[in-house]
Amino acid sequence: MSRDLRQLPPPCPRQVIALAVLCLVFLGGCSGLTARPDENRSTLDATPKTSESSVRPGINDVFVNPELNVDEFVAVFEGESREVAVHREDIVARLGLRSGDAVADIGAGTGLFMEPLAQAVGPTGSVLAVDISKRFVEHLQARASQSNLLQVQAVLCTEDAVRLPAESLDVAFVCDTYHHFEFPQATLESIRKALKPGGQLVLVDFKRIPGVSREWILNHVRLGQEEVIAEVLSAGFQLNEVLFVNGLEENYMVSFDRPKLSH
Ligand SMILES: C[S@@+](CC[C@H](N)C(=O)[O-])C[C@H]1O[C@@H](n2cnc3c(N)ncnc32)[C@H](O)[C@@H]1O
Repeated sequence: MSRDLRQLPPPCPRQVIALAVLCLVFLGGCSGLTARPDENRSTLDATPKTSESSVRPGINDVFVNPELNVDEFVAVFEGESREVAVHREDIVARLGLRSGDAVADIGAGTGLFMEPLAQAVGPTGSVLAVDISKRFVEHLQARASQSNLLQVQAVLCTEDAVRLPAESLDVAFVCDTYHHFEFPQATLESIRKALKPGGQLVLVDFKRIPGVSREWILNHVRLGQEEVIAEVLSAGFQLNEVLFVNGLEENYMVSFDRPKLSH
């Protein structure tokens, strides 16, 4: 042991605890993953807390699998075969974002909307790329860093809650993810609380029309547009507008407000 070290008094228990806390905070920060401002990823308990039953057990198994091959999903989600991928700039334009806004992309997947959202809110805004999949969240944070998008933060959430700070968002954007919500009422409540009063929830999802829609949609997507709207209204939102996006044929886009006086 060196002379200097030998001269140091033994650390008191309070110093040891403070050092341990500092290490944990540092490691949490380096992981690039955020659960909540006060909670690092290693302490995130993913167990649903809601008493609501899953409306579609197993639908997200592929995404929460730790072996998920992200590259395969980049090809699937960001390919020309998806009309939301082809028209992503037009979709983001319809969100009406302004410089400095805070937007959450809930169910961000591989980050299809990351660049247009970051551009829309600018360097003074913030984009929270939120997902239940640890593999996607790691990829989202790496994508943001590689593109030097300092306003983007990847957030790991749970299947029943977005886990974002109260009244922090101008817009919550949900593309092709509503039909993946296993606990829609609990998730919607967490989104409503995360929105500023008067903030907007904007959904893009598949039209589900028996006898018209493709078989895959009929089997995979739980509800049609009107039923989704009814579900969202029952969670305390107000219908704002059905938005038209040139080129979207299989998908609809609809916006809701968090009422200004809601709790
Ligand atoms: C079909 S992908 C859509 C990804 C992206 N929005 C897009 O359009 O390319 C659905 C995504 O939602 C995520 N997801 C499912 N349930 C979720 C929930 N309750 N909260 C947040 N993300 C969820 C999945 O992990 C997956 O990344």
